[in-house]
This record gives sequence, C-alpha cells and structure tokens, in this order.
Amino acid sequence: MVATGAAAGLGNIWKFPYIAGENGGGAFVLVYLGCILLIGLPVFAAELVLGRMGDHNVVDSFNRIAAEAGRSSRWSAIGWIGLLAVFLILSFYGVVGGWAFAYLAASVGDLFTVGEKATPPGAIVQAFNGLTGDPVRSVAWQTLFMGGTALIVGTGVRAGIERLSRLLVPLLFVLLSLMAIYGAVATNHFGAALSFLFAPDFSRLNANSLLIALGHAFFTLGVGVGAMLTFGSYLPKRIGLVRACVAVACLDTAMALLAGLAIFPIVFASAIEPGAGPGLVFITLPIAFSGMAGGDVLGLVFFAVLAIAALTSSPSLLEPVVEFIREKAAVRRRTAAVVAAGAVWALGVVQALSFSVWSGITPFGKSIFDLSAYLATNVLLPIGGILIALFAGWVVPWCRTAGSDGIGGGKLHRLWRLCVRYVAPAGVLIVMLNGLAGGLLR
Ligand code: PHE
Repeated sequence: MVATGAAAGLGNIWKFPYIAGENGGGAFVLVYLGCILLIGLPVFAAELVLGRMGDHNVVDSFNRIAAEAGRSSRWSAIGWIGLLAVFLILSFYGVVGGWAFAYLAASVGDLFTVGEKATPPGAIVQAFNGLTGDPVRSVAWQTLFMGGTALIVGTGVRAGIERLSRLLVPLLFVLLSLMAIYGAVATNHFGAALSFLFAPDFSRLNANSLLIALGHAFFTLGVGVGAMLTFGSYLPKRIGLVRACVAVACLDTAMALLAGLAIFPIVFASAIEPGAGPGLVFITLPIAFSGMAGGDVLGLVFFAVLAIAALTSSPSLLEPVVEFIREKAAVRRRTAAVVAAGAVWALGVVQALSFSVWSGITPFGKSIFDLSAYLATNVLLPIGGILIALFAGWVVPWCRTAGSDGIGGGKLHRLWRLCVRYVAPAGVLIVMLNGLAGGLLR
C-alpha cells in the first residue's frame, strides 16, 4: 500500500493527462505502457531485490552487495545519483503539492462558485498566475506541504507513511472513480475522452515524446531513484517481490488512466483545448468546474484527490534521504526528517521563486523549475534506471536473485534477467540519447 501510495501521485493526476494530451493521446499511452512493462517493471523488481539483499540505505546497500560480489565500491555512486534525484524531484514536487493544497483551500472557499456568480475564466487564469507569481504565498504553501511531509516521515514508516497510505490510497481510488463515473453519465463526452486516450495518432510521436514516455514510466512508478529499494529493505520476507511490483504497477497505471477518464470528459464538455500543459489541472479544469452544475462539489473532490495523491508520494521521496542521514549520522528519525526536509525545502524555495522573482533566469531556455523537472525526470531517472538494471543483471550473481525471496527461479527469472541485462539498458540508452538530442540540446 505504501509503494502504491508512492507510485500514485502528482505524476498520475497532474502530469500524465497533460503529457498524453500534448503527445498524441493513444499513441503516447501505448508507448508509455510498453515502457512500463519492458523497462519500468524489471527495474522496479530489481530495486526490491537489491533493497532486500542490501538491507541498508541506498548508498550502503550498493556498497554491501558490490563488496559481497567482489566488485568495486564505486557502484555505490548509483545510490548517490538516487539521493540527488529524489532531492531534486521533491524540491519541485513540494511546489506543486503546495499549489494543490492552495487549490483545495480555495475550493472549500468560493473558487468554484457556480450559477450566476460563476467565476469567469479570466479570473481563474488570474488566480493561478496570482498564486504562482506571488513569492510569499507560493512559498508559504510549499512550506506547509514540506512541513506535512516531514511530519509524516518523522513519525515513522509504520505509524506515519503506512498508516496514511492505508487510509488515503483507497480513498483516492474511490474519489477518482466517482469523478470518472460522473464523466460517463453526466457529460456526454466520455466517448471523446476514451478515443482521445486510446485512439493512437502515431504522427504526433517523435524522439522527444518517446523520452517523455520513458521518463514518465520511471517517474510514475517511482523507480530509478532508490525509493523502492529503501522500501525493499523493509519488506517482510514472506511477501513475494514479483507480485508486489506487478500489483503496484497495475494500480499505478489504473490510477493514471482513471485520472484521464475523470478529467477529459469534463474538459471536452467545456470545449477547451486538452493539451493545455501543466496548467491543465490548475486552469483548464477549474474553468470547466466553474461553468458546470455541481462544479463546486466536483472541484472540491478533485483538489482533495490531487492533495492526497501528492501527500502519499512525497514521504517516499524523503524517506531515502532520511534513512541515509539516520544511518550515517546515527541520529533519531525525527532529527533526520527535519534536516532532510529543511534542505529540500530550501531548494524548493528556489523552485517556487522561479515563477516570480527569478522568472528571468532561463538556462537552456527553460525556467529553473522546468529545467529541474526535465533533468530529474528525463536524465537522472533514466540513468539511475540503467545503472540499477546493469548492476542487478551483471554484478549480482545469478543464484542470488533466483531464490524465493528474490524473483524466484524458472522462466520468469530468465525473462527478468534478460530485461535487466539487455532490454532495459539498451532501450533506455537509445531513447535517452535520441530524446536529449531533440529535447534539451535543440
Ligand atoms: N511516482 C510519484 C508520482 O507519480 C513520484 C515519485 C517519484 C515518488 C519517485 C517516489 C519516487 O507522483
């Protein structure tokens, strides 16, 4: 449940719908599903196996396993890359999580007043620009979000993350399903949403969209950064790894598709362009909510979903850093949580301010926020993924992953081994080099 909560986050609800919209709908979804199956899932299983074998924080787990196999301790660099990645991801994740909190508060207020007093579209665009462009307000919400994350992680894995996930993950599914059902029965546009999500338009796929699909497959599963490895080290031996990661991947994918089916009927019903970028859920949807009957309730439900999704993922991004500090500095979990969250928060302030006072700083033609998101998702995650796959496939001896507490023997193990040795590294490398040439270095 914790891993599902980690996987199902802003990536599924904020990011997946708009990148699908921008990259050709069904064709993109198909590529994305292929990436999950052939690359994401094997790397996910690898992380859980390595976590179970290493039984320590990310860096020391790699260290120990490499030493045991008589290999160089330099392999622990994978752990450092992972720590860097979660650090960077959480810094911008906290900003978007803060927006979700702000919108939840605003929808409890009167953001989506319907009927005659309906908020006009212009005012909704302004509300978003006002929030992101106001340094004080955006940092305040980001601070609240990061404070909540620190509190959950500081409370402990069992009492904090696990208890929260048990409660909120099912709620997330229920609320999103209700929204999708609403879209199916009340809007007349469910068919359009279905064909948008599933009818493939291959002409809109290019090298960059392949990279986006791949990066997102890692991001949405939460693999490639050592978060799942950390959870693997906590996972009781009686729980089968393969079943666990297949279940999480299925639930995560279901959540993304469900989010698409919840969002697009509403978007189409109000005749707004679907590929509206990151503003899709913060501008397009609110405009739709304001114009429709029951939109105030629906808006409230949606932003509750978004805030919950963010808050069940962020602790998993902080956990690897906390576990590392806790073991290395021999401090209490609570102290480690405050230190880690404080450092991430500080970098997050830079991210938040890149929408206002520092919006003029645009290396590579991107804002600091966009560049961080791009680097983390499309560079660090795939590199982490390749290295984890290579490490699991080439460094760890065959017999160590074939046991019943690993992947298990037989055909499945051989298939997995094939994926982590060849398919995943080669696939990631090709897609990454192609995509980077067309994306960042354009
Ligand atoms: N999977 C989360 C999401 O979709 C983000 C995440 C990335 C969580 C990496 C943990 C590790 O929002």
